[in-house]
Amino acid sequence: MQVVADIAAVRRARQVDLSATWGLVPTMGFLHEGHLSLVRQARRDNSRVGVSIFVNPAQFHNPDDLATYPRDPERDLALLKQEGVDLVWTPLPDQVYPAGYQTYIHVEEASRPLEGAARPGHFRGVATVVAKLMNVFQPQRVYFGQKDAQQVAVVKRMVEDLNFPLTVVSCPTVREPDGLAMSSRNVLLSPQARPHAACLFRALQAGNDAFGQGERQAEPLRAAMRAVIDATPTARIDYVSVAHPETLAELDVAELDVVEAAALLSLAVFVDEVRLIDNITVGES
Ligand code: PAJ
Repeated sequence: MQVVADIAAVRRARQVDLSATWGLVPTMGFLHEGHLSLVRQARRDNSRVGVSIFVNPAQFHNPDDLATYPRDPERDLALLKQEGVDLVWTPLPDQVYPAGYQTYIHVEEASRPLEGAARPGHFRGVATVVAKLMNVFQPQRVYFGQKDAQQVAVVKRMVEDLNFPLTVVSCPTVREPDGLAMSSRNVLLSPQARPHAACLFRALQAGNDAFGQGERQAEPLRAAMRAVIDATPTARIDYVSVAHPETLAELDVAELDVVEAAALLSLAVFVDEVRLIDNITVGES
């Protein structure tokens, strides 16, 4: 496994075997089974696998969040070696955003609601760094987790709009036994708060159950999700959403056939001041 920081070194490593197909898994490190599931999918689909580890300052709008973002580079490299990764790229912040840097990508509609509304500038930072990573690495496939459904929607839109010659592969959310979606942020939960964090998945299940029982109005689906969070100590709702699975437009109670075929149920919840997000799609064939 080759580990490189420099952009020129990545470009050189990519030129070694031009007949190889490369899958790239962009990450911010502090790897867990969710990240590794993307690496394994990339391993199955491609002859070579690259992983980038970069805590991207441009996507944090809160400096404290960036400062407290968990890191463990040595452990990350050991895990990636076990997975048979070919190339790890650990870009240097000064090389990604040198003095005078001024080019950003704004995916307009897909970035607006949900996480985009709650975290101004977040998807501008994500789209920009993902475009740069793809531009340098030039993979045939790039892997993202459905855990961050809006991120997938933003990246897919950008790839189509900017004609990147690659396929965006979206992989299922990996969960803890109690349903909590794996996340690098889960370590920030206190032992007392940790059991309460399963309320996000239970809320999504409540929405899914209501949908399964034939509920097609968006507001009762939201209410079913809200009820679970409201009943959980230390949990506070940031948003609860029932949206179109691709455009992410919020489905409106005023419309008649509110959930036509499929909908994205998503939510952001503070559990003991740690902000967690999760989602599921209902009505998928
Ligand atoms: P990070 O949070 O490190 O996540 C890297 C990738 O792992 C993302 O595609 C994310 O959706 C996926 N992932 C995280 N938890 C997962 C889980 N429980 N199951 C499945 N996949 C999971 O997302 C980012 O980094 C950054 O925004 C990045 C795309 C690297 C750009 O900076």
